Amino acid sequence: MYLTDEEKRILDGDKGEAARLALSILVDLGKLYGAETLMPVSQVHIDATLYMVDAGLQFAEKMASLGAKAAVPTSLNPSAIDLIRWKELRVPPEELIKHQRLASAYLTMQATPTWTCAPYQQGIVPRFGEQIAWGESNAIAFANSVIGARTNRYADLMDICAAIIGKVPKFGLHLKRNRKAKLLIELKGFTTPMFENEALYPLLGCVVGEIASDQVAAVSGIPSAVTFDNLKGFLAGAASSGAVALCHLVGITPEAQDVEMCFQGDRPKRVLQITPKMVADHEQRLQSAKDDNIDWITVGCPHYSPAEFTQLLRLVEGKRVHQSVAFWVFTSRTVYAWIKENSILKQLTDAGISVFTDGCPLQYPRKSWNFSAAMTDSAKFANYCYSQTGLPVIFGSLEDCVESAVTGKIQRRKSPWAGN
Ligand code: F3S
Repeated sequence: MYLTDEEKRILDGDKGEAARLALSILVDLGKLYGAETLMPVSQVHIDATLYMVDAGLQFAEKMASLGAKAAVPTSLNPSAIDLIRWKELRVPPEELIKHQRLASAYLTMQATPTWTCAPYQQGIVPRFGEQIAWGESNAIAFANSVIGARTNRYADLMDICAAIIGKVPKFGLHLKRNRKAKLLIELKGFTTPMFENEALYPLLGCVVGEIASDQVAAVSGIPSAVTFDNLKGFLAGAASSGAVALCHLVGITPEAQDVEMCFQGDRPKRVLQITPKMVADHEQRLQSAKDDNIDWITVGCPHYSPAEFTQLLRLVEGKRVHQSVAFWVFTSRTVYAWIKENSILKQLTDAGISVFTDGCPLQYPRKSWNFSAAMTDSAKFANYCYSQTGLPVIFGSLEDCVESAVTGKIQRRKSPWAGN
């Protein structure tokens, strides 16, 4: 791998032990993927922000204690918990300390305390073609597929190294040739009422993710009127059921305005179709609750946007969450501040809904909450909930979630793609 004189000096320790260690790890990563050089990135989003095991905490604290600082603007994915309203979340004090230590290590490294998995909805928006290093699968897929910025799926701890050096090995999706689609997925048989139902997009994303796996796919047939939040749900689903980092959405992705552009002038060699039945089958797989009892509704995976809060408020108006149900929404501190100022927060709180920032619903303090089943409008959460926490889960539209919250029983309207 070719290294500049400055990079060689960093490896010799001229800029301290943290930089030497971070660069040596990036060089090893580059050798693994056959990269010929390193390249600068303009910003980093760190995914390794969730305290899960001591190793991650030790690495971050070691870098911070060695004096590491972020060399480029660096945002942070959620912590495992709400770092402010942790008492309301019933985080045991003895667990709190490790979450706080991890947060402190990143702030010492001068990362920006965004604590969100939807940085692209909080003003952190790279431009088309910008080279970045992002962690967090939904954010990566969104950056590549909607904005047209360029990032690989950076793993935990690699993201810290990229932030410290401000560079990554030049490989994968940073290079135009690797952004060429390998297969074309066409949507067949979908009607306008289906496309107007927001619950379609997370499910559709899951089906695309299963088909595409880790390949770059092109998807044709998504209407141009699709919203930012629809795309967020779609890509979060795709990046959770498959290792999707880039999915060309024909007519939406800046570098994929037509099928020919997705394949960089070639014709697709593999063409597959997704039908409404495939979406219905996947939806069926996201229903693991044994009966119609529900005691936890959780939305905001990825973190909720102002538009999603407005929609939630419209559905909740004049209603109140059943006393046996906890209804939680996760969002960023930025959006929380906005909904606090315009009184949406108060109206939701009055209706019995709790809004948390910083955290991730998958990491809820299990010992403090004896939930029996969860319901969500997030296919990503539904995909992971049972496998990671053992808690049965139901996927439904936001309207279904609200009705279930109010009655304390699972309410699901028939989806337009469900057939007869
Ligand atoms: Fe965000 Fe946690 Fe979902 S990090 S995307 S809320 S699994």
